[in-house]
Amino acid sequence: MDARARARRSIDHVADGETAAVNAHLRRFFERHANGLVKKLREDDNYSSWARVKSKALKKELTEAVGACEIIERELERVGTSMVEEVVGDVRVFDVCCGKGMTSCVAAASIVNCDVIAVDRDKRMNMKHLASEQKITFKEMDAYDEAVDEMMRDAKLSGKVVVVCGVHLCGDLSRRAIELFARWGDILVLSPCCLVREVRAWKRPCGEFGYGLARAARRLEADSHDLWCKLLLAHVPTHLGSEFAPVSKRIVVDDALLSEKNRFIVARRERPRSACVSCDGEEFSWKVTNK
Ligand SMILES: C[S@@+](CC[C@H](N)C(=O)[O-])C[C@H]1O[C@@H](n2cnc3c(N)ncnc32)[C@H](O)[C@@H]1O
Repeated sequence: MDARARARRSIDHVADGETAAVNAHLRRFFERHANGLVKKLREDDNYSSWARVKSKALKKELTEAVGACEIIERELERVGTSMVEEVVGDVRVFDVCCGKGMTSCVAAASIVNCDVIAVDRDKRMNMKHLASEQKITFKEMDAYDEAVDEMMRDAKLSGKVVVVCGVHLCGDLSRRAIELFARWGDILVLSPCCLVREVRAWKRPCGEFGYGLARAARRLEADSHDLWCKLLLAHVPTHLGSEFAPVSKRIVVDDALLSEKNRFIVARRERPRSACVSCDGEEFSWKVTNK
């Protein structure tokens, strides 16, 4: 349909704006999804709830979604998953606290052999657009619910590559995403948002992880978000499971995100080494010198 023949939506304003020409994620989004997601955002009735989202908010969400999905794709290549089109369904992305699920939509459109489980506890969101997305299933669930663990465990047991993705997770939800990755995940892509809100002792169902961080940042004259990301990175285990699989982890600062909170915590479970050196029968000794 001709843009002049229909009401302009937010996506049209984003497409025509200056930022779309200069921002790497937006440019890529419009190039890569011109006939898919962009068209749906422009024309699909199921996507009409995105029509009046402020274009500034839409731009920000798009950059975050594209940024997260590009990292997932890169990590998948390192896991060794075939990205060949015929291989269907061997990656399952869990978009934890998905909101309206733009990250899920971009993931479904970009990662060829994947399906997506989008989890959020908010019942009131208009999720009609997901009717146009066959690869996405929305689960109205609390991220702390054991049922989320069960879904991930089932995916893992059925041989899928499990991706735990959390975009702009507030407070303790970032710790929870790391916990889910440590139990079931192969890849973690997490962009933390605000620090843990400190509450009185009897109101702390999730414990005290992250408490005192704002004070520490002030004392150190450090950036509190940067410090929060470093604490979360340190919280990602270095090895996982009974196989003691090594984890590669890092912080990615993404300058193309239209947000000051532009860091991703990225982790990938690597193949366990077949046996430790000493079990292979080789001599393995520590030399302690007493000088
Ligand atoms: C800052 S938004 C992030 C939304 C989305 N990832 C995005 O980038 O647009 C936080 C979302 O987390 C959801 N949320 C907050 N606490 C939750 C919980 N315990 N379980 C599941 N969802 C939760 C809210 O409903 C909200 O949609």
